[in-house]
Amino acid sequence: MSTMPRPRPAQHSGAADQAETYPLLSFSFPGLEGISQQAIKTHLELYAGYVKEANEISAVLASPSSYSGINEAVHARESLARRLAFELSGVRLHELYFEQLKSGRDAKAGDDAGFMNCVADCFGDFNTWIEDVKQLGKTRGPGWVATYLDPGAQRLNNLWVDLHQLVVPAGQRLVFVLDLWEHAYWDDYGAKGRPKYIADVLRQTDWAVVGRRMTSERG
Ligand SMILES: [Fe+2]
Repeated sequence: MSTMPRPRPAQHSGAADQAETYPLLSFSFPGLEGISQQAIKTHLELYAGYVKEANEISAVLASPSSYSGINEAVHARESLARRLAFELSGVRLHELYFEQLKSGRDAKAGDDAGFMNCVADCFGDFNTWIEDVKQLGKTRGPGWVATYLDPGAQRLNNLWVDLHQLVVPAGQRLVFVLDLWEHAYWDDYGAKGRPKYIADVLRQTDWAVVGRRMTSERG
């Protein structure tokens, strides 16, 4: 399991204030079924790439003089903002995904209650929620199935996130994520392996972690 030092809070002014250092968190998953250690190793290397890119973009944003000329600066700033949204979302989604994969941790009984109760209220029962996740998991293209909590309405919504950062609803809290980029399942399950991969991930999800996100500011 990870150690989870969090980066300092984002600044809220101009580009020069957005310099951040996003730490590379460590994860390990002894005893996973279906998903091989080689696939995990490759996946963690990809995650490290997102952290590296996010840090490099942040460093450029800290030095606006590094891109010169008025028009070039405007275009470069816009491009960097779009890139940072992609890279940083890739970092955060992977951390949530790895954090919720079971790895022999002891869950505190009842930690999943907030999630399970809300699932029952919004979907009728857990199996109906599971089937909806599996149905959304058939969406074509790279992306994520994500379960968001609408904190105001106290409702859960299963949505599809294109890439890492597109079609993301405002004001929602991520409580469950399922990586459906090909790199997440292709090596172990093959081109038609999404259903088996999804079933293995759902069977090895730590619902206590998901449950704690219902009341966490993070996510
Ligand atoms: Fe991934």
